[in-house]
Amino acid sequence: MLADRFPIYRLRLRTERLELRLPDFEELGELAEAAAAGVHDPAFMPFGVPWTEGSPDVVARNVISWHHRVIGRWDANSWTFPFTVFCEGEPIGVQDIKGLQFAITREVSTGSWIGRAHQGKGLGKEMRAAVLHLAFAELGADYATSGSYEGNDASAGVSRRLGYREDGLKFPVVQGVRRTEQRWRLGRADWEANHRHEIEVVGLDQDVLGMLGLGPSVLAT
Ligand SMILES: CC(C)(COP(=O)(O)OP(=O)(O)OC[C@H]1O[C@@H](n2cnc3c(N)ncnc32)[C@H](O)[C@@H]1OP(=O)(O)O)[C@@H](O)C(=O)NCCC(=O)NCCS
Repeated sequence: MLADRFPIYRLRLRTERLELRLPDFEELGELAEAAAAGVHDPAFMPFGVPWTEGSPDVVARNVISWHHRVIGRWDANSWTFPFTVFCEGEPIGVQDIKGLQFAITREVSTGSWIGRAHQGKGLGKEMRAAVLHLAFAELGADYATSGSYEGNDASAGVSRRLGYREDGLKFPVVQGVRRTEQRWRLGRADWEANHRHEIEVVGLDQDVLGMLGLGPSVLAT
């Protein structure tokens, strides 16, 4: 079994309406279709890497190749966990969580998207709450950070509602244009004061912790 040899495939997070886990190949294809059907208003690019630019074919391929890239370059000291978000068994988006030297920094950062048909129903909050539970309750994080470009009220709304505080501005260049990025930071005390969702964690064992830099690693890196 894949999960026997690559333990992060064992990890599942469950919320009231969602399951977050790694997809198999067919499910990754369905996820790519969800993105190809549209992620945002084409007039507003919400991402620093504009992977949603281009035809549905290009967008679908970008989803698949990004997923394989982050799995393929997995490193216990520098990981990006690309959770696929399933709603009623259907892949609807991605909630990623990154740790860089996590055992020392105790800080994670996150990024996410949902197909347009599923937005605005509280699912963005629910999936971010799931990975925050993983980080704070299970992995011992002290901080989680995020960012949203000026005008991305849904993304800012998720961060604000879950207790993040404003953490300064950045001015990245995206598609040749200077953008304003609001940075967000959630400390442990604010997470504790604001977490409302019931989250179930399945499969977080010593081998998975090792792949997250929190114990003996099962991979040579
Ligand atoms: C950002 C995203 C993941 C949020 O998920 P979502 O399911 O749409 O958001 P939710 O329904 O959980 O809403 C979160 C909060 O934002 C508010 N909100 C949602 N959409 C909003 C909008 N268009 N304008 C203003 N507020 C909005 C909600 O009311 C809610 O706040 P509340 O709990 O105080 O009422 C999703 O909209 C998305 O994928 N957008 C396109 C890609 C993207 O922007 N990714 C993030 C890049 S930083």
